[in-house]
Amino acid sequence: MIIAARAVDFSSFIVMDVLERANALERQGQDIIHLEIGEPDFDTPQCIKEAGIKAIREGKTHYTHSQGIPELRDAICHHYREKYGVHINPEQVIVTSGTSPAMLLIFSTLLEPGDKIIVSNPYYPCYPNIIKYVGGNCIFVNVYEDDGFQFRPEEVAQKISPQTKGILINSPSNPTGNLLSAERIQKIADLGQYIISDEIYHGMVYEGKEHTILEYTDKAFVLNGFSKLYAMTGWRLGYVISPPDFVRPMQKIQQNFFISASSVSQWAGIAALNKAKGDVERMRTIFDQRRLYMVKRLRELGFGISVDPVGAFYILARAKHLSNNSYELAFEILEKAGVGVAPGIDFGSGAEGYLRFSYANSLENITEGLRKIEEFLKNK
Ligand SMILES: Cc1ncc(COP(=O)(O)O)c(C=O)c1O
Repeated sequence: MIIAARAVDFSSFIVMDVLERANALERQGQDIIHLEIGEPDFDTPQCIKEAGIKAIREGKTHYTHSQGIPELRDAICHHYREKYGVHINPEQVIVTSGTSPAMLLIFSTLLEPGDKIIVSNPYYPCYPNIIKYVGGNCIFVNVYEDDGFQFRPEEVAQKISPQTKGILINSPSNPTGNLLSAERIQKIADLGQYIISDEIYHGMVYEGKEHTILEYTDKAFVLNGFSKLYAMTGWRLGYVISPPDFVRPMQKIQQNFFISASSVSQWAGIAALNKAKGDVERMRTIFDQRRLYMVKRLRELGFGISVDPVGAFYILARAKHLSNNSYELAFEILEKAGVGVAPGIDFGSGAEGYLRFSYANSLENITEGLRKIEEFLKNK
């Protein structure tokens, strides 16, 4: 075999298979409603776009410091101080080309071959793929629908072994849309392991409050980015907040793999943090309206949602009464109803029998998509 095992063994995103089939149907002239998507349907707010354009006009188009421009790192520290009351040093921040490369930096720096990271099941699919890529292993801990898919700290504790290097949390979560309570975060932090906290959906919370891991422990890596909250998926901008000892090793990996994040995107990121509060609130209000509508309608259609999802823009709904094979069900819904949904199995065995619905689409499209699913269910 010419292709290296590491590449051959790499898993694809199943939801991409759904999307590709949806696109093929659209090319044949069929109308498809996309509820499988993982990115905001909004355009990047004007003040952010203008900051990017200004950066280009002013010639800020060169490589930057490998950790990111100081002004952006200062703005990130200010954001964490203002929002959560935690004090971080700009030297602890490494700006990356999105949260995904940030994961590669963290796990490359933290894991020796055979080391283990505790991950929830269901999970965001890139986590195990990246952990495996750098030679690590995932130890999965089940989370349950009637518990709002939150980690049970006592079950996490039982899975810790001498090879455990860290615990990964993601609140609000993809695919569940649920929050981890402050009390449980505290208990998980108290286990004394490194906590890797993916905070990319922070700010997209409609009930309750999200917490940064840094409120509970310094033995932590924060992963965050601009894709979701500021509707900046295509700008590719994220960051790590790291314990000081890990910064230099991560910086060396960043220099070799990526050199720096995009200069233009970094200048736009400063505007996002400093000027886009009104835009964020506008989008958040709209997401919340869609969320309330979608939760109500999905329940009316017979899908199971035990605990209301309160964050991100996803609903993981039980569909076991229709099928235990979420892959087949998602394709059946796509072919027969013309609606794209993500099969639960994409997010691990713990989500088999579930479908993930995204409300990153207009209320009009959501209404029509759910009407089509209602029709499909009547004829099933
Ligand atoms: C939980 C989670 N983390 C990270 C990412 C990656 O985001 P980015 O665009 O910053 O690479 C996503 C994207 O869907 C996500 O859902």
